[in-house]
Amino acid sequence: MDRIRIRGGAPLRGKIAIGGAKNAALPLMVASLLTEGTLRLSNVPDLVDIKTMLDILVAHGAHAEVAPDGTASGGRTISMRADNITSTTAEYDLVRKMRASVLVLGPLVARFGEAKVSLPGGCAIGTRPVNLHLAGMQALGAEIVIEDGYIHAKAPKGLKGGIVRFPTVSVGATEDLLMAATLAKGETVLENAACEPEIVDLAKLLIAMGADIEGAGSSRIVVRGKAKLNGTQHKVVADRIEAGTYAIAAAITGGALEITGAGVELMGAVVESLVNAGVDVALARDSMKVSANGAVHAVDVSTAPFPGFPTDMQAQMMALMTVAQGAAVITETIFENRFMHVPELARMGADITVKGNTAIVRGVKALKGAPVMATDLRASVSLVLAGLCAQGETVVSRVYHLDRGYQSVDKKLAACGADIERVPG
Ligand code: EPZ
Repeated sequence: MDRIRIRGGAPLRGKIAIGGAKNAALPLMVASLLTEGTLRLSNVPDLVDIKTMLDILVAHGAHAEVAPDGTASGGRTISMRADNITSTTAEYDLVRKMRASVLVLGPLVARFGEAKVSLPGGCAIGTRPVNLHLAGMQALGAEIVIEDGYIHAKAPKGLKGGIVRFPTVSVGATEDLLMAATLAKGETVLENAACEPEIVDLAKLLIAMGADIEGAGSSRIVVRGKAKLNGTQHKVVADRIEAGTYAIAAAITGGALEITGAGVELMGAVVESLVNAGVDVALARDSMKVSANGAVHAVDVSTAPFPGFPTDMQAQMMALMTVAQGAAVITETIFENRFMHVPELARMGADITVKGNTAIVRGVKALKGAPVMATDLRASVSLVLAGLCAQGETVVSRVYHLDRGYQSVDKKLAACGADIERVPG
């Protein structure tokens, strides 16, 4: 297994191009199941999770072609066509690799009247049940049975519009039901829907495919079902989490980075926290300059659904707080086990006390390099960030977590002066 070796201390300087958002691209790809037309997505990041989603769609019988799209971030164009679906089963071996695979449930039942989708199984950051997806599908008239580790869903006469009130805000369940409702008969209202930019991007694509959707980006989405959707093309929205991660790389190394292609209007809460911490952030239309000359100060952060501070930036912010002046209280409200990076950061000299879903981070003068290991995507990148500012050498193992969500992270950082290399295992 590959590792990443970092010798910390170099302030980063230069430009980093941000790619399309993984968490937008995955549901957008699934939307190809809603039509027999061709769906052409550009600005798709070249990541392991994208490859896994392609494998899932191809296993259903979809046809897919991938080509470089010439963007500065090394994105791809993916053309998908689901005009000859041969299987409505999503097997355990593919679904267990990536929870977002469960998103095929809604579109398959909506278009073909049935689906058999493996339950995703365990996850490092929380139990992450799929009950909201199932209850939503039932509200649209699907019969659901759980048997042998699989969700068996049927709606032989098609789905019917209905009211779905989510008891908890869920990005995935909102996306699943939004897709399902586009082909349901009549009107569907999604209440307490997630408002994330990735949902807005999905709605834009669905509307371009001919869907009738109002209110995406608010907590109430109204969908009037259509008999059929058509193919279209669409550019994936920028990855606000990748952009935020590189903003912290600039801050934690006392450097200055220009982050381009970043969709800065989607990054309000992260930018606000960085500014409160004393980091200089200059926003332009689709880029931002981030620099930190003086000390970074401790700021408290509590994760929340959009437009709140994203849980996907919590580990990175914690890495920054380990070397800030003062004590920061970091509260994780979305996932119950998303502090797996804490013991690894502690091995690098961080002073962190965890009580329930709160971590008190007391800034230290400097972190010290150490061999560390990560358990999920954002935890791994927080260790890379810590390694960039630590004294001496840090070796991050289990790099496959990083490959799921950060394209060429080592190359992008090295091009800005980081002493970082990937060591093949
Ligand atoms: C999406 O996951 C993202 N993944 C996650 O990014 C992100 O952390 C999360 O949203 C929150 O923003 C993708 O978009 C592919 P949820 P998702 O449903 O949709 C509970 C990353 O690092 N819940 O919004 O699975 C759930 O347990 C990843 O890129 C239920 O109880 O998250 C959690 O506590 C990790 N029942 C809360 O809702 C359900 O049926 C929010 O989860 C569904 C969710």
